[in-house]
Amino acid sequence: MVTRPLMSWSPDMTVGVAMLDEEHQTLIRLINVLDAIADNGNRVSIETALSELATFAVKHFHDEESFMTRIRYSRLAEHQEQHDEFTTKVQSFLRRLAVEDHSRLVREILQYLEVWWTDHILESDKSFAIEANIA
Ligand SMILES: [Fe+2]
Repeated sequence: MVTRPLMSWSPDMTVGVAMLDEEHQTLIRLINVLDAIADNGNRVSIETALSELATFAVKHFHDEESFMTRIRYSRLAEHQEQHDEFTTKVQSFLRRLAVEDHSRLVREILQYLEVWWTDHILESDKSFAIEANIA
């Protein structure tokens, strides 16, 4: 049986910087890995998949913020705040995973990840690309 991935990257998500597009694709892949184990994975495997995603997101935010600094993006501070909010939210999910019913919580986490990354890439990341005239 072939199941459709939860998220897929589409060309309209491009921000015009190959490295950042590749990182967005990796993040989407890591979300799909978490989705693939959501039904049958134990607590440790779910924590591991979410931790891996959180670690990669921190690296990605760093790379993206460095790029925005280089282009002197006018809304850098606001954008950084969104990244920080995401990191804080995922840390709280990781703490909750240690004590709550993981099979129920993982669905809440996946819903958050799907909505956050779709909106963030298509709106917030697109706006620095548009300002830099590259998307
Ligand atoms: Fe971003």
